[in-house]
Amino acid sequence: MDHLPYGGVVPELASRAHIRAGLPVIESALEEAGVRLDDLSAIAVTHGPGLIGSLLAGVNLAKGLAFGCGLPLIGIHHLEGHLFSALIDSDLQPPFVALLASGGHTELIHVRKLGHYELLGATLDDAAGEAFDKVAKLLGLLPPGQFVMGGRAVSDIARDGNPQAIRFPRALSGRATYDVSFSGLKTSVLTHVNKLRKQDGPQAVVDATADIAASFEQAVVDVLVDRTVQAVAACNVSHAALVGGVAANRCLRAQLASALENAGARLVVPDVALCTDNAAMIASAGAYRFAQGETDGYDLDAQPRLPLPGLTTSK
Ligand code: KG4
Ligand code: ZN
Repeated sequence: MDHLPYGGVVPELASRAHIRAGLPVIESALEEAGVRLDDLSAIAVTHGPGLIGSLLAGVNLAKGLAFGCGLPLIGIHHLEGHLFSALIDSDLQPPFVALLASGGHTELIHVRKLGHYELLGATLDDAAGEAFDKVAKLLGLLPPGQFVMGGRAVSDIARDGNPQAIRFPRALSGRATYDVSFSGLKTSVLTHVNKLRKQDGPQAVVDATADIAASFEQAVVDVLVDRTVQAVAACNVSHAALVGGVAANRCLRAQLASALENAGARLVVPDVALCTDNAAMIASAGAYRFAQGETDGYDLDAQPRLPLPGLTTSK
């Protein structure tokens, strides 16, 4: 609610919230896990990409802990954390294709080996989660002051709707590409809502909300399933992983699993709690980097734009 009067997330307030929450969150996580700082072997922290103030709060806290406890420090790329979320409770091993769909990114990655990533395709405009957030906002589904995590709200209301009610566009489908584009879809939802409101009044929009949400969700799911199935076949892998906040989506989880099964492949998708941003995925990537003997010095920097280490592009 900190951001309520401002109409969007305020970076300055977000970093202050990180500073306030950092130590209490660590304290309660240690207590819940029944471990002490002495039991840890290293401190892993997200050092990019993202909002600089929030990254700085985390990096500086991690440096303080590492220095104070005499532990190695490991900087982790946020997206590598998401990729490693698929390995936490599974026996998944590379090679596999990962669909990483979050609020800031939508990427198809061929994980050839751990630490070796080939970018197959990405969004040309909005990320999948961003499209969900914008549609949640335009359908009036978010409580005042909340600007992110609209995907859950759209998905919840979509349960009562008909996914075939409105045929929203599936951009770039049928083309030889692994890229996706969601900005046209978002505009199409907006145009539909405006037209309905003008023709039949605001109550008509309220009455159609579940159908609009379900039809929008289906359009996103169709596009993501199409690209992932194609990528799995082209890379000749037997497994795919679905990670990132949008991986929490019930329809995407179910429909991608069944499409892959029909194609003779298997989907690994983390528990919902491990899909949206979490510390366990950063710890998982940190444990891997630590086992590789990779640690950082106290000059580790927070980087708002940071390329994924080991990423090559197939384009
Ligand atoms: O990975 P994440 O927690 O944060 C980023 O790195 O961006 O992803 C957050 C995104 C938000 O856009 C949120 O709306 C979306 O994931 N999301 C969902 C669902 N739960 C979260 N999108 C669709 N369906 C969901 N159930
Ligand atoms: Zn994330």
